[in-house]
Amino acid sequence: MKVLMKSYGCQMNDYDSELALGLLKKQGYSATNQEEDADVILFNTCSVREHAEDRVFNQIKELRLLKERRPDILIGVMGCMVENYKTQFFDDFPQVDILIGTRNITELPQAIEKARSEKTKIIKLKRNGFGYDLYETPKIEGKFHAFLPIMTGCDKVCSFCIVPYVRGPEISRASHEVIGEVKRLADFGVKHVTFLGQNVNSYGNKLDQEINFSKLLSEVSKISGIKKISFTTSHPEDAHEELFQVIRDHEKISRHFHLPLQSGSDRMLERMRRGHTLTQYRVKIDRMRELIPDVSISTDIICGFPGETLEDYEMTKQALVDIQYDSAFIFKYSPRPHTGAARYVDHISDLEKTRRVTELLHVEKKIMRECNERFLNRAFPVLISEPSKKSKAELLAHTWHDKKVILKGERSEIGSIMNVRLTDLINETFRTERIL
Ligand code: 5AD
Ligand code: SF4
Repeated sequence: MKVLMKSYGCQMNDYDSELALGLLKKQGYSATNQEEDADVILFNTCSVREHAEDRVFNQIKELRLLKERRPDILIGVMGCMVENYKTQFFDDFPQVDILIGTRNITELPQAIEKARSEKTKIIKLKRNGFGYDLYETPKIEGKFHAFLPIMTGCDKVCSFCIVPYVRGPEISRASHEVIGEVKRLADFGVKHVTFLGQNVNSYGNKLDQEINFSKLLSEVSKISGIKKISFTTSHPEDAHEELFQVIRDHEKISRHFHLPLQSGSDRMLERMRRGHTLTQYRVKIDRMRELIPDVSISTDIICGFPGETLEDYEMTKQALVDIQYDSAFIFKYSPRPHTGAARYVDHISDLEKTRRVTELLHVEKKIMRECNERFLNRAFPVLISEPSKKSKAELLAHTWHDKKVILKGERSEIGSIMNVRLTDLINETFRTERIL
């Protein structure tokens, strides 16, 4: 039996897709990337912007003929769009057989089994529990990096965001499970873990344990075999000094911090219900930079939120210039159902949103270059992750600030740490020379 997985959206979805494939492989499935070969086609979906949903709708639509030709093929939809549309999928797309919610991934193999043997449609949706059973991250041969969700869901009320609706209320994974899982990954040969969550900084808030994200990071730092620990994503309200200190004091923890700003206008931040002003945000950034020298900071920005005037927009542009982000993801606002902002009527035209996004991307490109230049002609340790795609004699690696570097070397060195000097910068990749 062969399964084709099409994965969209964030890294949490990438993890879920890998987990789902791992569970199916245990049942004897192998992966394929050809629709014609597949016995099961799965879409792991994202609802964060309308565009992401449209891509999936179009692809599912196109499968109608394939399903008519091969009625035995099973088509399943997983993830955020299932939470958003539920059984409407069955109504709108009769070719869909299986729907699996964001916290039901581990039920996928039985759902496929049942849909096939009983020739029925299956929907699995639940809102409680973490959704991942103990110790399930699948082993991926030859991989030195692993994602690991430590919490999921979100209790914030950002008015643009559908995530609290589709991913449900916040829940954290018990720390002994996280630590056990990281130890198991280290035994597989994983050197670098990335902790995932919709807001990792609020990790532990609802656990009956004396634990928070900072303490979890320092505990995981003690695990031998693990050389680097990254995390994403954080909400500014929950990014505290204690966390910055823990990063400073533990050399395994990544020096890259993603801290979404969304807008540089207090009026917009208020309307977005972000719970902070630009000044409060900047105090955090300044403190982070004081405590963690050279920390690289990235952000998310939304352009054209309802009611965003040219003045509000200019404030966002100025914030980019003032804060000097190492990188920024800049999005056009997309109205989402089940969100606070869905009721706003003062929309910005698509043309104007595009204009604002394009201009900010241009501004950020120059800033990114300047930020990267501060690393030139300096030496840093790098973790080698994979062979370079361009040359057999070269390897790809990242610094602890998440700067991408190319170095000369052998495949056998993948997974090890080397010291290199960053000698040249081409686009966003550094050329290097080794330091012995
Ligand atoms: N429209 C545009 N961008 C959005 N994001 C979240 N919701 C929306 C939306 N409705 C962006 C935010 C968030 C990132 C993951 O996606 O910037 O930080
Ligand atoms: Fe998309 Fe958000 Fe769901 Fe991730 S959690 S898949 S970004 S809607």
